[in-house]
Amino acid sequence: MIPNKQAGAALEERPGADVEAWRKDFPVLGRTINGKPLVYLDNGASAQKPRAVIERIERYYSTEHANIHRGVHHLSQEATAAYEAARETVARYFNAAEARECVFTRGATEAINLVASSWGGANLTAGDEMLLTVMEHHANIVPWQMLESRLGIKLVVAPISDAGELLVDEWEKLIGPRTKLAAFCHASNSLGTLNPARELIAKAHAHGIPVLLDGAQSAAHLKIDVRELDCDWFVCSGHKIFGPTGIGVLYGKADLLGAMPPYQGGGDMIDRVSFAGTTYRGLPERFEAGTPNIAGAVGLAAALDYLDGIGHDAIAAQEQDLLAYATEQLSQIEGLTIYGRAPNKVALVSFMIEGIHPNDIGTMLDADGIAVRTGHHCTMPLWERFGLTGTVRASFAFYNTRAEVDALVASLKKIRRLFLG
Ligand code: ALA
Repeated sequence: MIPNKQAGAALEERPGADVEAWRKDFPVLGRTINGKPLVYLDNGASAQKPRAVIERIERYYSTEHANIHRGVHHLSQEATAAYEAARETVARYFNAAEARECVFTRGATEAINLVASSWGGANLTAGDEMLLTVMEHHANIVPWQMLESRLGIKLVVAPISDAGELLVDEWEKLIGPRTKLAAFCHASNSLGTLNPARELIAKAHAHGIPVLLDGAQSAAHLKIDVRELDCDWFVCSGHKIFGPTGIGVLYGKADLLGAMPPYQGGGDMIDRVSFAGTTYRGLPERFEAGTPNIAGAVGLAAALDYLDGIGHDAIAAQEQDLLAYATEQLSQIEGLTIYGRAPNKVALVSFMIEGIHPNDIGTMLDADGIAVRTGHHCTMPLWERFGLTGTVRASFAFYNTRAEVDALVASLKKIRRLFLG
């Protein structure tokens, strides 16, 4: 669990933080935007890339590229080895029991669609229920709604408190005889809330229900151990964990994944094809039809190695310091309300300033070189719960600094003066 320092902890600058050294690993952080040093606080949407990832992709395309699993020639074998080594790295990083439990996808969204279409299509029928929460990203709502239309299943939505915490007892009470699946975010992309995943998974399992854990927003902030969590499926996107875009991971327990029908058909996922009938390969190939994102997988492995090099304790310490400092500093701005006050949060702050539209705030922050996300953050039902259409969201990574929080706060104060006098 991330140590929580929001509640009145002393806010001295953390001694010994290596932030300046880490920042040098990320070339884009040296940029100026609109004549100001870039302050990148949109890490929840996509994190920046360290040189280790950029150089690994360049090396792959410069010296190793060919199609994989297909060629007897040397380059094809090298590319295949690099791709499968990337899978081993992913499996080790998330502590999967076997590499074949890790399927490369286009991202978390595709991974959820894969489970909905494949497992859902084969295992759910009209009248079955699945349990979601109101804080889900659209990626963990819409694929299930498509199944609702296709199969007649029912989506049951668990409520949250005003602080943005899942009401765990209410969640458990919604599990009934027709509940066949639970899916929830590990961390909310809009509120930052860190859900008690281990506890929820154990409760669901006690009712005989498998769980899909959406790790899109947690994997950048904490060490994920899929076996310790005991989730049945875990999904995440490479680009939010300092890797390339267009690559993601679906982890699934081997017995569950192995029993799922293919999601897409095509080359590389088959055993034998004839017009009389086709047979499929085992895990993980049966879920990787067509030429995959080889460079993406290799780049993702480089990102995970990089994160291991920095260390998850150091990442959590730096980010929780930033979260505590930003929460304290932003709270002092008149008319500013923070949404998401759970005691356990990942490092992001969603807020509104009374009387100023979030998009205006985002545009004016950009004029000062500060990148934040504004709007609904792909969680419209969540904002409906709060009677809002969206917020401004500052989301942090370990390479952000207190000075950047100060720049955000100074710019917001200036914007407030300009708009409200
Ligand atoms: N899901 C991403 C976000 O929260 C895009 O910004």
